[in-house]
Amino acid sequence: MAKTLGIVSIKGGVGKTTISAALASDLANHYGKKVLLVDANYSAPNLGLHMDILEPEKTIHHVLDKKIQLKSAIHNKFGVDVIPGEYVYNKSLNCLKLRDKINTIKQNYDFVILDSSPSLNDEILSTILASDALFVVTTPDYPTLSCTLKAAKLAKQRGRPMTGIIINKIRDPRFELSLKEIEESTGIPVIARIPDDKTAVRAAFTRIPIPIYKKNSPFSKEINRLNSAITKNREKKSFIQKILPFEFRKERINRAILRENFYTPSFKK
Ligand SMILES: Nc1ncnc2c1ncn2[C@@H]1O[C@H](COP(=O)(O)OP(=O)(O)O)[C@@H](O)[C@H]1O
Ligand SMILES: [Mg+2]
Repeated sequence: MAKTLGIVSIKGGVGKTTISAALASDLANHYGKKVLLVDANYSAPNLGLHMDILEPEKTIHHVLDKKIQLKSAIHNKFGVDVIPGEYVYNKSLNCLKLRDKINTIKQNYDFVILDSSPSLNDEILSTILASDALFVVTTPDYPTLSCTLKAAKLAKQRGRPMTGIIINKIRDPRFELSLKEIEESTGIPVIARIPDDKTAVRAAFTRIPIPIYKKNSPFSKEINRLNSAITKNREKKSFIQKILPFEFRKERINRAILRENFYTPSFKK
């Protein structure tokens, strides 16, 4: 039975869609997992653009509008089953049905990944309620951190506390919030630190998910390390990390804990 992972934040532009596409394509291509990737950003969907699906005829909007079955909206791209969104859709939707729809197909997958909407309404709630685990994406600055705190509070209120934080677009750590500051203010472990990486821009331009576009980019490597935790595989270490007698990166320790706990009953709904 699949684990459903929601990739959330209450802010646009932090990297949710890029990271969702990257996690999914890395799980499918580098860990041999069966993955369903769903665009749950109903009012501004753009996952299709990251997965090279330009004019989808069948989308999550049609599924939620009861016009078609979830299965028939699947597009296979880069080894991942993708359900894109409709770029322009003017009717209102009951997006809280997402969980039921996913439950009809969950047994066919190892992972379902939901790329969430940043809108603080039923849109983000549909991802929160459909997920077994939530990863919140943040950038290391105060305005985004305040949104991250809001997202964490909402998830907790709904009985789905955030599993971990992904810090994205790290540019100049001396002038940005540190892992320690982010963990102390949110109380949530940081499970990945992704640098600002030109590869993200290049991959988006060519509509190829980053781990397929360039497997050895800093972005792809950190995604691969995070996936090692949720697939219960060992994390690759560099030569220096192997000879050091201690672990100096806190996110690695957090991933080791995640690796141990991810499939225990308390982690399941
Ligand atoms: N680590 C990164 N380094 C550089 N650019 C990034 C990185 N992560 C995402 N981006 C870029 O940031 C922009 C917003 O990313 P996106 O995934 O659409 O954010 P969101 O889904 O949160 O709105 C895109 O142009 C994407 O290519
Ligand atoms: Mg997005």
